[in-house]
Amino acid sequence: MDVQRLQESFARMAMHGDAVPLFFYSDLFLRRPETQDLFPVSMAAQRDRLVHALARVVSEVGHPDGLTGYLQDLGREHRKFGAIAEYYPAVGASLLATLAHFNGPSWTPDLAADWKAAYELVAQIMIDAAAEDAGRGPACWEATVIAHELRRFDIATFRVAITEPMPYLPGQSVSVEAPERPRIWRFYSMANAPRDDLTMDFHVRMIDGGAVSIVLTRGLAVGSRLKMGAPVGSLTYQPGTGRDVLLVAGSTGLAPLKAIAEQISWQPDPPRVQLLFGARTADGLYDLADLEKMAAGCPWLTVVPAVSDDPGFPGERGMLHEVLARSGSWREHDVYASGPTAMVEATIHQLTALGVPQAQIHVEDFGWSEP
Ligand SMILES: Cc1cc2nc3c(=O)[nH]c(=O)nc-3n(C[C@H](O)[C@H](O)[C@H](O)COP(=O)(O)OP(=O)(O)OC[C@H]3O[C@@H](n4cnc5c(N)ncnc54)[C@H](O)[C@@H]3O)c2cc1C
Ligand code: HEM
Repeated sequence: MDVQRLQESFARMAMHGDAVPLFFYSDLFLRRPETQDLFPVSMAAQRDRLVHALARVVSEVGHPDGLTGYLQDLGREHRKFGAIAEYYPAVGASLLATLAHFNGPSWTPDLAADWKAAYELVAQIMIDAAAEDAGRGPACWEATVIAHELRRFDIATFRVAITEPMPYLPGQSVSVEAPERPRIWRFYSMANAPRDDLTMDFHVRMIDGGAVSIVLTRGLAVGSRLKMGAPVGSLTYQPGTGRDVLLVAGSTGLAPLKAIAEQISWQPDPPRVQLLFGARTADGLYDLADLEKMAAGCPWLTVVPAVSDDPGFPGERGMLHEVLARSGSWREHDVYASGPTAMVEATIHQLTALGVPQAQIHVEDFGWSEP
């Protein structure tokens, strides 16, 4: 399989922007009309999610490191969409038809054969993971909101109860669907380690114009129902390294790190943990009181709040990467960071500049930016 040729043909297709998903979905919906029911009613803002992910994953098939775990997660995740195994060939055929159309004369039988082989490899990993998962648990979990608190007009914490156990690792996320936004799924990280009573906490920040975050912050009440997909994600705690831990949380990026801190608290001999919790203004430190309560019972845990846009703030001031740069050398630490894209990128950059090895840096990028 010629991976470079796959990537070049992907780039030639991607140049055509919105026309690509339009072609792909019309091809798919004519080929297998019943698949149309799986997608959101209004696909305006959604169009390129599947088709671009699909093409990118397939074109990167030559670098299997990390891809297999991601594809297994994706395959399990796809159960909740109703993406059954028999739809995969149709999606593959539509992908190839789309590539053929936009590659024009550059599309050759050899290239078509490479794409077909790459797609089949990727699809098989997803199908196998979904089949294995079907023997273990439901395609999605029904959750009922049992507590909901607006901590600021645009930041909420809430607790749900599920009826069937969901095995997950602290730091992982689930995709969530609200009845007001049918078939639109977004990921949210559990803010607690698994509990026997099957309750889970979430922290959500409202994104301007955001389809799902608006509902989860301001549209939920006790008794609201949500659906949740299989847990995914690799921002999970690696115990036993002998190193101390730095947790860097931007806004609701705190959620997975709070779950990890809780997991560490169960260890008989926990490492020292420093939790940097940052926001633009002090009222963005929406969970500080809880964190301080937690730290009061855990001598190994230090919580450092930091604020970037409020000169009157009595604690650390500056962006999180600036605060961490001046508050220590982190080379001997395992670092876990999560939050908005720019914050996560700046943190990785700063840690790398400070000489922290890549293998000690673990991140979850929430994919949005601060206003
Ligand atoms: C693994 C993972 C875990 C996550 N966990 C959490 C969590 O615990 N808490 C939490 O609050 N969020 C979390 N997120 C983010 C969450 O999944 C949603 O992306 C977020 O809530 C916005 O969804 P939405 O439907 O409201 O907005 P959308 O409808 O998806 O987007 C709203 C608007 O924002 C724009 N937009 C989208 N991405 C960006 C961007 N990067 N920069 C600027 N504008 C953008 C869109 O174009 C659109 O106009 C997580 C994301 C991932 C990938
Ligand atoms: C190799 C095959 C496939 C890959 C790599 C793939 C990849 C993806 C990715 C990355 C997403 C976005 C997930 C998210 O943002 O939450 C997605 C969404 C989705 N996929 Fe797939 N997918 C594949 C096959 C299929 C098949 C066979 C179906 C069934 C027809 C399907 C139906 C959907 C639906 C309904 C969504 C959600 C709507 C959307 O976000 O656009 N997928 N897929």
